[in-house]
Amino acid sequence: DKGIQIAIDGPAAAGKSTIAKITATKLGYTYIDTGAMYRALTYKALEEHIDVYDDEALTHLLERIDIELTPTEEGQIVRVDGEDITEAIRSQEVTSNVSATAAQPHVRELMVEKQRLLANSKGVVMDGRDIGTAVLPNAELKIFMTASVEERAERRFAENTKRGINRSMAQLCKDIADRDKADTERIASPLKQASDAIFIDTTSMSIEQVADEIIQHAEERK
Ligand code: C5P
Repeated sequence: DKGIQIAIDGPAAAGKSTIAKITATKLGYTYIDTGAMYRALTYKALEEHIDVYDDEALTHLLERIDIELTPTEEGQIVRVDGEDITEAIRSQEVTSNVSATAAQPHVRELMVEKQRLLANSKGVVMDGRDIGTAVLPNAELKIFMTASVEERAERRFAENTKRGINRSMAQLCKDIADRDKADTERIASPLKQASDAIFIDTTSMSIEQVADEIIQHAEERK
């Protein structure tokens, strides 16, 4: 059993990373959070006052920084050039700028290259927006996961409460809808369900139910 590739895509705050982590742990696979990579680049760009719409400057930045994802019991540690930015990449500032950097075509090309190298090992669960369509088009299992905007905002609200972030439900609904719009309407590999992906609406499902469904599909494909 050498393991398969599992691609999980879907809109913002659909629970992809929570589900992907559980699935990876249960299968003994590597979990790769590609959103964290775009967030790390955005964090660095903001720190260095680089325009988040400047594809060339961002690409040069991405070429010279080292983004490192280290899996842990609770999830992962994200480092850029050795600095732990696990918490910092979840800030409001990074969240509201990340879709701009992620829309830049050369940035995406380089990210996809890096992500393919990371997935190159054995069993892998990778989550993002373009994994099934662009990064791992031959993945044995593709999932497209979504939930209503209200449900996603509620989940994000609960998560924020734990982390001490104060943002209203109305504001969260708008944040999520804006990010969905930017990710879906961009020219370079927009968020889109792959034709061979399994669609899961998680609105009224528990985390366990979704993870179990994915693992069942994975077992059938091993
Ligand atoms: O998954 P997460 O919400 O952390 O992703 C942050 C942003 O990174 C997304 O809103 C999207 O703009 C971008 N992204 C992307 N392609 C991926 C993963 C994330 O464009 N594969």
